Amino acid sequence: MPDSTLILGIETSCDETAAAVVVNGTRVLSSVVASQNDLHAEYGGVVPELASRAHVERILPVVRRAVADAGLKLVDLHAVAVGHRPGLIGSLVVGVSAAKALAWSLGLPLIGVDHVRAHLYAGDLRSNTETRSCEPDAPAGGDTTATPTNLFPALGLVVSGGHTSLYRVDSWTSLTRLGATIDDAMGEAFDKAAAILGIPFPGGPNLDRLARTPGANDRAHDFPVSRLAPRSLDFSFSGLKTAMLYAVRGVPLKGGVFERDHTMLNEGQRADLAASFQRAAARAAILKLERALELLRSQDGAPKDSQGSQTVRTLLVGGGVSANSRLRSELSALAARENLRLRLPAMAYCVDNAAMIAGLGFQQLAIGDVADLRLSAVPTTAC
Ligand code: KG4
Ligand code: ZN
Repeated sequence: MPDSTLILGIETSCDETAAAVVVNGTRVLSSVVASQNDLHAEYGGVVPELASRAHVERILPVVRRAVADAGLKLVDLHAVAVGHRPGLIGSLVVGVSAAKALAWSLGLPLIGVDHVRAHLYAGDLRSNTETRSCEPDAPAGGDTTATPTNLFPALGLVVSGGHTSLYRVDSWTSLTRLGATIDDAMGEAFDKAAAILGIPFPGGPNLDRLARTPGANDRAHDFPVSRLAPRSLDFSFSGLKTAMLYAVRGVPLKGGVFERDHTMLNEGQRADLAASFQRAAARAAILKLERALELLRSQDGAPKDSQGSQTVRTLLVGGGVSANSRLRSELSALAARENLRLRLPAMAYCVDNAAMIAGLGFQQLAIGDVADLRLSAVPTTAC
Protein backbone atom coordinates (compact mmCIF):
# COMPACT_ATOMS: atom_id res chain seq x y z
CA MET A 1 0.00 0.00 0.00
CA PRO A 2 1.22 3.58 -0.60
CA ASP A 3 2.46 5.65 2.40
CA SER A 4 -0.76 7.63 2.36
CA THR A 5 -3.73 5.55 1.34
CA LEU A 6 -6.70 7.68 0.32
CA ILE A 7 -9.99 5.82 0.56
CA LEU A 8 -13.35 7.07 -0.63
CA GLY A 9 -16.13 5.81 1.65
CA ILE A 10 -19.76 5.59 0.58
CA GLU A 11 -22.71 5.07 2.95
CA THR A 12 -26.38 4.74 1.99
CA SER A 13 -27.74 2.05 4.32
CA CYS A 14 -30.70 4.01 5.68
CA ASP A 15 -31.69 7.65 5.23
CA GLU A 16 -28.32 9.41 5.05
CA THR A 17 -26.48 9.74 1.75
CA ALA A 18 -22.84 10.08 2.74
CA ALA A 19 -19.36 10.12 1.22
CA ALA A 20 -15.96 10.79 2.81
CA VAL A 21 -12.26 10.66 2.07
CA VAL A 22 -10.02 9.25 4.81
CA VAL A 23 -6.22 8.94 4.87
CA ASN A 24 -4.71 5.76 6.33
CA GLY A 25 -7.94 4.83 8.08
CA THR A 26 -7.97 7.64 10.62
CA ARG A 27 -7.50 11.15 9.25
CA VAL A 28 -10.76 12.42 7.74
CA LEU A 29 -10.08 14.83 4.86
CA SER A 30 -13.77 15.31 4.11
CA SER A 31 -17.08 13.94 5.29
CA VAL A 32 -20.32 14.90 3.58
CA VAL A 33 -23.68 13.74 4.94
CA ALA A 34 -26.92 14.63 3.15
CA SER A 35 -29.63 13.97 5.70
CA GLN A 36 -33.16 13.06 4.63
CA ASN A 37 -34.73 14.07 7.96
CA ASP A 38 -37.02 16.66 6.34
CA LEU A 39 -38.25 14.10 3.83
CA HIS A 40 -39.32 11.55 6.45
CA ALA A 41 -40.37 13.90 9.29
CA GLU A 42 -44.04 14.05 8.28
CA TYR A 43 -44.27 10.23 8.46
CA GLY A 44 -42.52 10.05 11.88
CA GLY A 45 -39.97 7.51 10.57
CA VAL A 46 -37.99 6.46 7.52
CA VAL A 47 -40.05 5.47 4.44
CA PRO A 48 -37.82 2.99 2.53
CA GLU A 49 -39.08 3.84 -0.97
CA LEU A 50 -38.57 7.58 -0.42
CA ALA A 51 -35.13 6.93 1.04
CA SER A 52 -33.85 4.94 -1.92
CA ARG A 53 -35.18 7.45 -4.43
CA ALA A 54 -33.49 10.30 -2.54
CA HIS A 55 -30.19 8.35 -2.49
CA VAL A 56 -30.32 8.06 -6.30
CA GLU A 57 -30.69 11.84 -6.63
CA ARG A 58 -27.96 12.67 -4.09
CA ILE A 59 -25.24 10.06 -4.41
CA LEU A 60 -23.22 11.61 -7.24
CA PRO A 61 -23.31 15.22 -5.96
CA VAL A 62 -22.36 13.96 -2.48
CA VAL A 63 -19.39 11.93 -3.81
CA ARG A 64 -18.22 14.87 -5.97
CA ARG A 65 -18.45 17.19 -3.01
CA ALA A 66 -16.51 14.82 -0.70
CA VAL A 67 -13.68 14.49 -3.23
CA ALA A 68 -13.58 18.25 -3.88
CA ASP A 69 -13.70 19.09 -0.13
CA ALA A 70 -10.68 16.83 0.34
CA GLY A 71 -8.86 18.94 -2.27
CA LEU A 72 -8.56 15.92 -4.55
CA LYS A 73 -9.67 14.52 -7.90
CA LEU A 74 -11.17 11.06 -8.35
CA VAL A 75 -7.92 9.85 -9.93
CA ASP A 76 -6.03 10.60 -6.69
CA LEU A 77 -7.96 7.90 -4.78
CA HIS A 78 -6.51 4.49 -3.91
CA ALA A 79 -9.66 2.49 -3.10
CA VAL A 80 -13.44 2.72 -2.78
CA ALA A 81 -15.18 1.33 0.32
CA VAL A 82 -18.93 0.98 0.61
CA GLY A 83 -21.31 0.02 3.40
CA HIS A 84 -22.98 -2.99 1.77
CA ARG A 85 -24.74 -4.51 4.83
CA PRO A 86 -26.96 -4.34 6.82
CA GLY A 87 -29.65 -1.84 5.99
CA LEU A 88 -32.64 -1.10 3.79
CA ILE A 89 -32.10 -3.11 0.64
CA GLY A 90 -33.24 -0.37 -1.78
CA SER A 91 -30.96 2.15 -0.07
CA LEU A 92 -27.92 -0.14 0.06
CA VAL A 93 -28.23 -0.96 -3.64
CA VAL A 94 -27.71 2.70 -4.57
CA GLY A 95 -24.42 3.02 -2.66
CA VAL A 96 -23.13 -0.38 -3.77
CA SER A 97 -23.91 0.36 -7.44
CA ALA A 98 -22.19 3.75 -7.25
CA ALA A 99 -19.13 2.26 -5.53
CA LYS A 100 -18.84 -0.53 -8.10
CA ALA A 101 -19.11 1.92 -10.99
CA LEU A 102 -16.45 4.19 -9.50
CA ALA A 103 -14.08 1.35 -8.59
CA TRP A 104 -14.42 -0.23 -12.02
CA SER A 105 -14.02 2.98 -14.01
CA LEU A 106 -11.04 4.16 -11.93
CA GLY A 107 -9.43 0.71 -11.73
CA LEU A 108 -9.45 0.76 -7.92
CA PRO A 109 -9.96 -1.95 -5.28
CA LEU A 110 -13.54 -2.22 -4.03
CA ILE A 111 -14.12 -2.95 -0.34
CA GLY A 112 -17.44 -4.10 1.13
CA VAL A 113 -17.83 -2.88 4.73
CA ASP A 114 -20.30 -3.95 7.45
CA HIS A 115 -22.11 -0.85 8.68
CA VAL A 116 -22.47 -2.06 12.29
CA ARG A 117 -18.77 -2.93 12.60
CA ALA A 118 -17.93 0.44 11.08
CA HIS A 119 -19.85 2.16 13.92
CA LEU A 120 -17.43 0.51 16.38
CA TYR A 121 -14.50 1.81 14.34
CA ALA A 122 -15.75 5.42 14.36
CA GLY A 123 -13.93 6.26 17.63
CA ASP A 124 -10.65 5.96 15.73
CA LEU A 125 -11.47 8.78 13.30
CA ARG A 126 -9.92 12.22 13.60
CA SER A 127 -10.82 15.24 11.53
CA ASN A 128 -8.02 16.63 9.43
CA THR A 129 -6.87 19.20 11.96
CA GLU A 130 -7.19 17.05 15.09
CA THR A 131 -4.40 15.01 16.59
CA ARG A 132 -4.86 11.92 18.69
CA SER A 133 -4.16 13.80 21.92
CA CYS A 134 -7.13 16.10 21.31
CA GLU A 135 -10.61 14.62 21.49
CA PRO A 136 -12.92 17.52 22.37
CA ASP A 137 -16.18 15.57 22.27
CA ALA A 138 -15.14 12.74 24.54
CA PRO A 139 -16.00 13.30 28.18
CA ALA A 140 -13.21 13.22 30.72
CA GLY A 141 -11.98 9.69 31.31
CA GLY A 142 -11.88 8.67 27.65
CA ASP A 143 -8.37 7.52 26.83
CA THR A 144 -6.96 8.88 23.60
CA THR A 145 -3.42 7.57 23.59
CA ALA A 146 -3.89 3.90 22.79
CA THR A 147 -2.40 2.76 19.51
CA PRO A 148 -4.34 0.24 17.42
CA THR A 149 -2.07 -2.59 18.58
CA ASN A 150 -2.93 -2.24 22.26
CA LEU A 151 -6.67 -1.63 21.90
CA PHE A 152 -7.59 -5.29 21.80
CA PRO A 153 -9.21 -7.34 23.10
CA ALA A 154 -12.03 -4.88 23.47
CA LEU A 155 -15.66 -4.92 24.47
CA GLY A 156 -17.81 -3.25 21.82
CA LEU A 157 -21.27 -1.73 22.08
CA VAL A 158 -23.23 -0.52 19.06
CA VAL A 159 -26.32 1.52 19.91
CA SER A 160 -28.13 2.94 16.91
CA GLY A 161 -31.59 3.32 15.44
CA GLY A 162 -31.49 -0.16 13.92
CA HIS A 163 -29.03 -2.07 16.13
CA THR A 164 -28.17 -2.65 19.76
CA SER A 165 -25.44 -5.27 20.12
CA LEU A 166 -22.48 -6.24 22.27
CA TYR A 167 -19.28 -7.69 20.83
CA ARG A 168 -16.00 -9.11 21.87
CA VAL A 169 -13.57 -7.41 19.47
CA ASP A 170 -10.21 -9.12 18.90
CA SER A 171 -9.21 -6.94 15.97
CA TRP A 172 -11.01 -4.56 13.63
CA THR A 173 -11.81 -7.51 11.43
CA SER A 174 -12.49 -10.19 14.05
CA LEU A 175 -15.62 -9.81 16.17
CA THR A 176 -17.87 -12.15 18.13
CA ARG A 177 -21.39 -11.07 18.98
CA LEU A 178 -22.23 -11.57 22.65
CA GLY A 179 -25.79 -10.25 22.69
CA ALA A 180 -28.34 -8.07 20.92
CA THR A 181 -31.74 -6.56 21.43
CA ILE A 182 -34.65 -8.95 21.37
CA ASP A 183 -37.11 -6.20 20.42
CA ASP A 184 -36.50 -2.47 19.84
CA ALA A 185 -33.06 -1.01 19.19
CA MET A 186 -32.04 1.62 21.74
CA GLY A 187 -32.32 4.49 19.24
CA GLU A 188 -35.70 3.21 18.11
CA ALA A 189 -36.88 3.29 21.75
CA PHE A 190 -35.63 6.89 22.07
CA ASP A 191 -37.46 7.84 18.87
CA LYS A 192 -40.70 6.18 20.02
CA ALA A 193 -40.49 7.68 23.52
CA ALA A 194 -39.93 11.07 21.90
CA ALA A 195 -43.02 10.59 19.71
CA ILE A 196 -45.08 9.74 22.83
CA LEU A 197 -43.84 13.00 24.40
CA GLY A 198 -44.77 14.91 21.24
CA ILE A 199 -41.11 15.62 20.37
CA PRO A 200 -40.53 15.98 16.62
CA PHE A 201 -38.54 13.47 14.49
CA PRO A 202 -35.63 12.71 14.83
CA GLY A 203 -36.59 12.04 18.43
CA GLY A 204 -33.34 10.84 20.05
CA PRO A 205 -31.31 14.07 19.96
CA ASN A 206 -34.39 16.17 20.78
CA LEU A 207 -35.26 13.99 23.80
CA ASP A 208 -31.63 14.28 24.95
CA ARG A 209 -31.93 18.09 24.76
CA LEU A 210 -35.22 18.09 26.72
CA ALA A 211 -33.71 15.81 29.40
CA ARG A 212 -30.93 18.38 29.90
CA THR A 213 -33.44 21.12 30.82
CA PRO A 214 -32.08 22.76 33.98
CA GLY A 215 -33.91 21.31 36.99
CA ALA A 216 -35.17 18.19 35.17
CA ASN A 217 -35.55 15.37 37.72
CA ASP A 218 -34.25 12.04 36.37
CA ARG A 219 -35.80 10.20 39.34
CA ALA A 220 -39.30 11.59 38.92
CA HIS A 221 -40.35 8.29 37.31
CA ASP A 222 -39.01 4.89 38.26
CA PHE A 223 -38.87 3.47 34.74
CA PRO A 224 -37.90 -0.22 34.36
CA VAL A 225 -34.35 -1.29 33.55
CA SER A 226 -34.55 -4.52 31.57
CA ARG A 227 -32.32 -7.30 32.87
CA LEU A 228 -33.75 -10.42 31.16
CA ALA A 229 -32.28 -13.73 32.45
CA PRO A 230 -29.60 -13.35 35.18
CA ARG A 231 -26.64 -13.76 32.79
CA SER A 232 -28.29 -12.57 29.61
CA LEU A 233 -26.30 -10.16 27.44
CA ASP A 234 -29.33 -9.38 25.31
CA PHE A 235 -31.24 -6.12 25.55
CA SER A 236 -34.93 -5.28 25.64
CA PHE A 237 -36.33 -1.77 25.38
CA SER A 238 -40.01 -2.43 24.66
CA GLY A 239 -40.98 -2.45 28.38
CA LEU A 240 -39.32 0.92 28.91
CA LYS A 241 -41.16 2.31 25.90
CA THR A 242 -44.50 1.00 27.21
CA ALA A 243 -43.76 2.46 30.66
CA MET A 244 -43.27 5.85 29.00
CA LEU A 245 -46.53 5.42 27.09
CA TYR A 246 -48.48 4.67 30.28
CA ALA A 247 -46.76 7.48 32.22
CA VAL A 248 -47.84 9.98 29.57
CA ARG A 249 -51.28 8.66 28.56
CA GLY A 250 -52.32 6.54 31.54
CA VAL A 251 -53.19 2.84 31.38
CA PRO A 252 -55.52 2.27 28.41
CA LEU A 253 -59.24 1.93 29.06
CA LYS A 254 -61.34 -0.86 27.57
CA GLY A 255 -60.94 -0.89 23.79
CA GLY A 256 -57.38 0.50 23.99
CA VAL A 257 -58.51 4.11 24.44
CA PHE A 258 -56.23 6.45 26.42
CA GLU A 259 -57.63 9.20 28.56
CA ARG A 260 -54.62 11.58 28.37
CA ASP A 261 -51.85 12.57 25.98
CA HIS A 262 -48.71 14.69 25.96
CA THR A 263 -50.58 17.93 25.37
CA MET A 264 -51.75 17.77 29.01
CA LEU A 265 -48.17 17.88 30.32
CA ASN A 266 -46.35 21.06 31.26
CA GLU A 267 -42.73 21.67 30.24
CA GLY A 268 -41.36 20.59 33.64
CA GLN A 269 -43.26 17.30 33.51
CA ARG A 270 -42.03 16.58 29.97
CA ALA A 271 -38.44 17.29 30.99
CA ASP A 272 -38.76 14.98 34.03
CA LEU A 273 -40.14 12.20 31.83
CA ALA A 274 -37.34 12.63 29.29
CA ALA A 275 -34.65 12.65 31.99
CA SER A 276 -36.12 9.60 33.75
CA PHE A 277 -36.37 7.70 30.44
CA GLN A 278 -32.79 8.55 29.53
CA ARG A 279 -31.54 7.44 32.95
CA ALA A 280 -33.25 4.02 32.63
CA ALA A 281 -32.08 3.51 29.04
CA ALA A 282 -28.46 4.35 29.88
CA ARG A 283 -28.62 2.14 32.98
CA ALA A 284 -29.75 -0.82 30.83
CA ALA A 285 -26.74 -0.39 28.54
CA ILE A 286 -24.28 -0.04 31.43
CA LEU A 287 -25.73 -3.11 33.18
CA LYS A 288 -25.14 -5.31 30.13
CA LEU A 289 -21.64 -3.93 29.67
CA GLU A 290 -20.87 -4.81 33.31
CA ARG A 291 -22.19 -8.34 32.78
CA ALA A 292 -20.21 -8.76 29.57
CA LEU A 293 -17.01 -7.59 31.25
CA GLU A 294 -17.52 -10.08 34.05
CA LEU A 295 -18.11 -12.87 31.56
CA LEU A 296 -15.09 -12.07 29.38
CA ARG A 297 -12.81 -11.69 32.34
CA SER A 298 -13.96 -14.98 33.86
CA GLN A 299 -13.57 -16.74 30.48
CA ASP A 300 -10.04 -15.40 30.14
CA GLY A 301 -9.21 -16.25 33.74
CA ALA A 302 -8.08 -12.75 34.67
CA PRO A 303 -8.95 -11.49 38.14
CA LYS A 304 -11.37 -8.57 38.00
CA ASP A 305 -9.02 -6.13 39.69
CA SER A 306 -5.83 -7.23 38.00
CA GLN A 307 -4.06 -4.59 35.90
CA GLY A 308 -1.72 -5.35 33.05
CA SER A 309 -2.88 -8.96 32.77
CA GLN A 310 -6.47 -7.81 32.31
CA THR A 311 -7.78 -9.17 29.05
CA VAL A 312 -10.40 -6.63 28.06
CA ARG A 313 -8.48 -3.40 27.58
CA THR A 314 -10.86 -1.11 25.80
CA LEU A 315 -14.50 -0.15 25.59
CA LEU A 316 -15.48 0.69 22.01
CA VAL A 317 -18.86 2.37 21.60
CA GLY A 318 -20.55 3.64 18.45
CA GLY A 319 -23.86 4.30 16.70
CA GLY A 320 -26.25 7.23 16.87
CA VAL A 321 -27.13 6.80 20.55
CA SER A 322 -23.44 7.07 21.49
CA ALA A 323 -24.06 10.81 20.98
CA ASN A 324 -26.39 10.76 23.99
CA SER A 325 -25.08 12.99 26.77
CA ARG A 326 -26.20 10.76 29.65
CA LEU A 327 -24.85 7.58 28.07
CA ARG A 328 -21.51 9.25 27.29
CA SER A 329 -20.99 10.37 30.86
CA GLU A 330 -22.03 6.98 32.28
CA LEU A 331 -19.70 5.18 29.87
CA SER A 332 -16.92 7.45 30.98
CA ALA A 333 -17.60 6.61 34.64
CA LEU A 334 -17.75 2.87 33.83
CA ALA A 335 -14.43 3.00 31.99
CA ALA A 336 -12.81 4.79 34.94
CA ARG A 337 -14.28 2.27 37.44
CA GLU A 338 -13.22 -0.75 35.39
CA ASN A 339 -9.82 0.58 34.38
CA LEU A 340 -10.66 0.47 30.66
CA ARG A 341 -9.76 2.78 27.83
CA LEU A 342 -12.84 4.34 26.31
CA ARG A 343 -13.17 4.95 22.58
CA LEU A 344 -16.17 7.13 21.87
CA PRO A 345 -16.65 8.71 18.44
CA ALA A 346 -16.57 12.48 18.07
CA MET A 347 -20.16 13.73 17.73
CA ALA A 348 -20.00 13.96 13.94
CA TYR A 349 -19.08 10.28 13.67
CA CYS A 350 -21.68 8.83 16.10
CA VAL A 351 -24.54 8.93 13.61
CA ASP A 352 -24.35 7.44 10.12
CA ASN A 353 -21.42 8.76 8.09
CA ALA A 354 -19.09 7.52 5.38
CA ALA A 355 -15.81 8.29 7.17
CA MET A 356 -16.32 5.21 9.37
CA ILE A 357 -16.83 3.12 6.22
CA ALA A 358 -13.61 4.43 4.64
CA GLY A 359 -11.78 3.96 7.97
CA LEU A 360 -12.72 0.33 8.45
CA GLY A 361 -12.25 -0.18 4.70
CA PHE A 362 -8.59 0.76 5.18
CA GLN A 363 -8.18 -1.96 7.84
CA GLN A 364 -9.79 -4.49 5.50
CA LEU A 365 -7.59 -3.41 2.58
CA ALA A 366 -4.52 -3.89 4.78
CA ILE A 367 -5.35 -7.60 5.18
CA GLY A 368 -6.43 -8.06 1.56
CA ASP A 369 -10.13 -8.26 2.33
CA VAL A 370 -11.28 -6.76 -0.96
CA ALA A 371 -14.37 -7.52 -2.99
CA ASP A 372 -15.01 -7.70 -6.71
CA LEU A 373 -17.88 -6.56 -8.89
CA ARG A 374 -20.03 -9.39 -7.56
CA LEU A 375 -20.33 -7.50 -4.25
CA SER A 376 -24.00 -7.34 -3.36
CA ALA A 377 -26.19 -5.36 -0.99
CA VAL A 378 -27.19 -7.52 1.99
CA PRO A 379 -29.97 -6.36 4.34
CA THR A 380 -28.79 -8.42 7.34
CA THR A 381 -25.59 -8.15 9.38
CA ALA A 382 -22.72 -10.65 9.34
CA CYS A 383 -22.57 -10.95 13.11
O1 KG4 B 1 -26.36 5.22 13.80
P1 KG4 B 1 -27.55 5.94 13.34
O2 KG4 B 1 -27.35 7.26 12.64
O3 KG4 B 1 -28.41 5.07 12.35
C1 KG4 B 1 -28.53 3.69 12.42
O4 KG4 B 1 -27.57 2.98 12.02
O5 KG4 B 1 -29.60 3.25 12.90
O6 KG4 B 1 -28.49 6.12 14.61
C2 KG4 B 1 -29.65 6.88 14.55
C3 KG4 B 1 -30.32 6.78 15.91
C4 KG4 B 1 -31.71 7.40 15.93
O7 KG4 B 1 -32.61 6.51 16.56
C5 KG4 B 1 -31.49 8.66 16.75
O8 KG4 B 1 -32.65 9.08 17.44
C6 KG4 B 1 -30.42 8.21 17.72
O9 KG4 B 1 -29.54 7.46 16.91
N1 KG4 B 1 -29.72 9.33 18.34
C7 KG4 B 1 -29.78 9.63 19.66
C8 KG4 B 1 -29.00 10.80 19.85
N2 KG4 B 1 -28.50 11.19 18.64
C9 KG4 B 1 -28.94 10.27 17.72
N3 KG4 B 1 -30.42 9.00 20.66
C10 KG4 B 1 -30.30 9.53 21.90
N4 KG4 B 1 -29.59 10.65 22.17
C11 KG4 B 1 -28.93 11.31 21.18
N5 KG4 B 1 -28.23 12.42 21.45
ZN1 ZN C 1 -25.85 3.35 11.66
